[in-house]
Amino acid sequence: MSSPSPKPTVNGSVPRHVAIIMDGNGRWARNRNKPRRSGHRAGVKSVRMSVETAAQRGVEYLTLFAFSSENWCRPEDEVSALMSLFVEALRREVDELHRNNVRLKFVGALHELDQKLRIKISKSEQKTAENTGLRLTIAIAYGGRWDIVEASKALARDVVDGTLAVDDIDDERFTAKLQLSGMPDPDLLIRTGGEQRISNFLLWNLAYAELWFTDVLWPEFDVSVFDEALKCYASKQRRFGHTGDQVETV
Ligand code: FPP
Repeated sequence: MSSPSPKPTVNGSVPRHVAIIMDGNGRWARNRNKPRRSGHRAGVKSVRMSVETAAQRGVEYLTLFAFSSENWCRPEDEVSALMSLFVEALRREVDELHRNNVRLKFVGALHELDQKLRIKISKSEQKTAENTGLRLTIAIAYGGRWDIVEASKALARDVVDGTLAVDDIDDERFTAKLQLSGMPDPDLLIRTGGEQRISNFLLWNLAYAELWFTDVLWPEFDVSVFDEALKCYASKQRRFGHTGDQVETV
């Protein structure tokens, strides 16, 4: 076996790592005859609530899918509104996140973002780097396949440099080259907006995640819906290939 399998968990536990696909902003706006960008703007409130609730419930890592590699294909005015919203949200929220001991990290093809946003990202990461509370990761210009391809390239480079033997490549070394390197895999994936798919999010890291879907649109995702997801997670027995009896004796 290339790496130890994850530990089974008994019922009632809080997920260490929650990942969220925030979907439904556009439909929320359309239902109100508003432009799509106003849905994204309304979604910031749910981001804030998710961060607060995750920290209060004892979640250690929260990873949010804010903009996928494929989202570059959206109409130019929507992409530009989203980028401005990220800059504005960072400007408005980082001090508060810092006060609340949140450590912020961004993952994705960040070199594709414009300079203004890249600078904001880098400053916010530096400012919160020593914080010891919730680890908040925002995926922007991120795609799961891209992540895997980049990790493969990094391993290939190590092989070419002679610092890694092909036969030494295993789960653990592969994981260490991915964007979420150093973090435990998400235990729970939440997706709002009614679709039941992964949409090229954390393809490798979600291997064992419990998946929880809701029809609630992202701007309407509130504490009670988040708690519903956590409650459902707590009712699951995660076996990772073990038998139910083995898990009971953990
Ligand atoms: C998907 O909904 C949502 C996005 C592509 C953007 C998510 C961004 C935010 C919630 C803004 C704030 C984020 C941060 C990190 C400050 P959609 O537009 O695909 O909705 P639809 O499926 O109804 O069209």
